[in-house]
Amino acid sequence: IHCALGGTVAEPKVVNATEPMLLNAVRGLEVERPPVWLMRQAGSYQIICEKHPSFRERSENVDLVVEISLQPWKVFKPDGVILFSDILTPLAGMNIPFDIVKGKGPIIFNPLSTAVDVDQVREFVPEESVPYVGEALTILRKEVNNEAAVLGFVGAPFTLASYVVEGGSSKHFTKIKRLAFSQPKVLHALLQKFATSMAKYIQYQADSGAQAVQIFDSWATELSPVDFEEFSLPYLKQIVDSVKQTHPNLPLILYASGSGGLLERLPLTGVDVVSLDWTVDMAEGRRRLGPDVAVQGNVDPGVLFGSKEFITSRIKDTVTKAGKGKHILNLGHGIIVGTPEENVAHFFEVAKGIRY
Ligand code: CP3
Repeated sequence: IHCALGGTVAEPKVVNATEPMLLNAVRGLEVERPPVWLMRQAGSYQIICEKHPSFRERSENVDLVVEISLQPWKVFKPDGVILFSDILTPLAGMNIPFDIVKGKGPIIFNPLSTAVDVDQVREFVPEESVPYVGEALTILRKEVNNEAAVLGFVGAPFTLASYVVEGGSSKHFTKIKRLAFSQPKVLHALLQKFATSMAKYIQYQADSGAQAVQIFDSWATELSPVDFEEFSLPYLKQIVDSVKQTHPNLPLILYASGSGGLLERLPLTGVDVVSLDWTVDMAEGRRRLGPDVAVQGNVDPGVLFGSKEFITSRIKDTVTKAGKGKHILNLGHGIIVGTPEENVAHFFEVAKGIRY
């Protein structure tokens, strides 16, 4: 499938062919098509879940982490291979016991609510607490061999704080908002610990083999813009600033679903890529983000429940609206459980056939 953009079809020319296409695209180098990857794409994942029902076991054992991470790579050959892990994985090493329970989601056994609780939070030392993450990334880099980019990820301070204060997933985020709006200093102390710890964690992931790292701020968009500016943005910026000091060429991707009201503020974090959800138009999102950042995402995961023709037309629409370069084709969120696998295969087939 050829998408003629702006009336011209560029000669396919890959600059720096030794680097994965995803990295070239982020850096604004010429690529023949947008790189593509998806989150939570593993069909045979369910089989491993039956054998190893504990999420923590699946995500803290090097062999299982590598096997699960490579499942989508083997089936669909995406341009990005994300580490199998969770944003909560560092918590145990920070003295915050947790579990992820089927049907319930994340559970924090002793939710934090006071300054004393925050004092007990230990700063994260990745090489001591999660050596399996580093080992898995190193193996993934060898296995993928630069045919795709190996992606690491971390949770953003506000999103992690919302889990540990709420005790799990939440609807109205009343506990963390009570803390934010009545004892902001306590919340700031917690956010600061997460910011320092996640900066270290990103550096550790990069040193272990991650070629780009995505920062998930899934719940920051529960904040109004003024509160986002106080409780999320400064900590994201701090993380980006400190990682850029040690790893200036490591692309950082910011994912914040529901960020339509915040788009102009997101590039202020200093990230290289912003992932959009499907509630904003790609062309408008691109304009509002400005020319410096690359864009990712935007396709509604629900589209994969549509017909093949529909999926094809939405891919083309997104690629055309994103314009040439600095675009990573992706869904606005992970694949929804129950998505027909043949539609996922179709998504990749169409995506990889696109030429600018
Ligand atoms: O593609 C991948 O699977 C990459 C690995 C990955 C997982 N979680 C594995 C996982 C990534 C990148 C995440 C990120 C994550 N985890 C986020 C940010 C993205 C988002 O969704 O906004 C958040 C908020 C979490 C916390 C979390 N972990 C929740 C809310 C849940 C429950 C979701 C559910 O559908 O039950 C989890 C569990 C989890 N983490 C699953 C996976 C594949 C599903 C449950 C399981 O495998 O047992």
